[in-house]
Amino acid sequence: MTTVITYGTFDLFHYGHRRLLERTRDLGDYLIVGVTADNFDKNRGKFDVQQSLMERIESVRKTGLADEIIIEEYEGQKIKDIKQKNVDIFTVGSDWTGKFDYLSEYCDVLYLDRTEGISSTNLRAENRNISLGLVGEIKVLTKLYNESKYISGIKISSVFTDDINAIKNIDNSILIADSYDKLLKNCDAVFIASHPFKHYNQVKKALTLGKHVLCESPIALKEKEAKELFQIAHKNNLILFESIKTAYSTAYNRLLLLVKMDEIGDTLSIDVNYTNSTENKNNTLSTLDNIISWWSIALLPIFQLLGTDYKFKNSSLIYLDNSSLFSKINFEYDNAVASIKVGNGIKSENELIISGTESYIYVPAPWWETDYFELKYENPKNNKKYFYQLEGEGGIRQELIVFTKSIQINKNNSYIKNNISVAICKIIEDIIKNSPIKTND
Ligand code: CTP
Repeated sequence: MTTVITYGTFDLFHYGHRRLLERTRDLGDYLIVGVTADNFDKNRGKFDVQQSLMERIESVRKTGLADEIIIEEYEGQKIKDIKQKNVDIFTVGSDWTGKFDYLSEYCDVLYLDRTEGISSTNLRAENRNISLGLVGEIKVLTKLYNESKYISGIKISSVFTDDINAIKNIDNSILIADSYDKLLKNCDAVFIASHPFKHYNQVKKALTLGKHVLCESPIALKEKEAKELFQIAHKNNLILFESIKTAYSTAYNRLLLLVKMDEIGDTLSIDVNYTNSTENKNNTLSTLDNIISWWSIALLPIFQLLGTDYKFKNSSLIYLDNSSLFSKINFEYDNAVASIKVGNGIKSENELIISGTESYIYVPAPWWETDYFELKYENPKNNKKYFYQLEGEGGIRQELIVFTKSIQINKNNSYIKNNISVAICKIIEDIIKNSPIKTND
């Protein structure tokens, strides 16, 4: 009887591994396969093996080629195994040529041609990289593209946008899709930054085709639609994130924490402004389409701090002309009140103030991309200033990191809970319903 032996990590078992085992088996009557233990791999510099020892053993076992599987745990074990098991032939791939000549004292050593074009290292690299397709407005997509370069595990694969030349200037290795369907074919996940009235259909299509979604806020223009999208994502085991970069910025998260830890006492009032007097003046789109996302951002701190179960809401809308709109929405909770002022064609201080029984938090304009805020007391001597360095484009980088990680671990870790996204859509639905100006839907 001829006994043959071979060793390997066999991570993400592939065709090259199978061929090596088949050829080794053909050389004898009894095949022993040594699978490397995790510690042994680490000691020899392989740190990123993805599968556990048990999983790798199971892959080898499933081939049905091995008569015996052993674990290789330490340097020098090969000589002991070969002697103890009366091995006649030792094999290994040709990438190791010369390295195991020292074993020829105990058995024949054969270097078998390595199968070209495949390796665990490449598969691990592919596994790590989630390919992200981008759809929508070039300015937003460019920011996201630039931030994606700092994140491992995600790679921008393709883009569908009106401004093709702009994207070519950024990176000509990115595939330019000529339709949304083609974009979806070339990615695992999609970032949607198109006009809000397209969001619902685009998100739904992506989720139905098995793609994870990061969509600019709001994800839909109706409460019912938002609920439906989260249901589809849940059913298909996919990650759906509403994108509001403020939610991921360090200063904003720190102030949420301070309020939740009752640093200002009980929260009694939240006042939020999001205004711009010049935006949209030369724009052909109706005002609603352009400023819909402003409501989402303004509503965020209120819903994140006071919840979505307000008792009462009233809104006032003033239309200045076809491209300018001012809105004020007031909320009443059991023990607190809140209000937002959102509009274009109006100028106000874009600050956020959270008032409590002991002190208040003041976030200067523009609060949604701030790196700074103050905790203010009756006695100014007690005031505290908080400063956090903004990394790149506000919270985009952190948002992408959390989105990527959620896909990798298959758990939605979004900083914006689903019920908040749904509540935002409900408010926007009401605004559109009551508005004499229609969206371009
Ligand atoms: N092997 C092969 N052809 C390949 C890959 C591996 O013949 N394309 C052989 C190796 O030479 C070795 C055995 O399969 O004898 C187990 O290799 P292993 O190191 O587990 O696989 P790799 O794909 O080379 O892994 P890595 O990229 O981590 O080095």
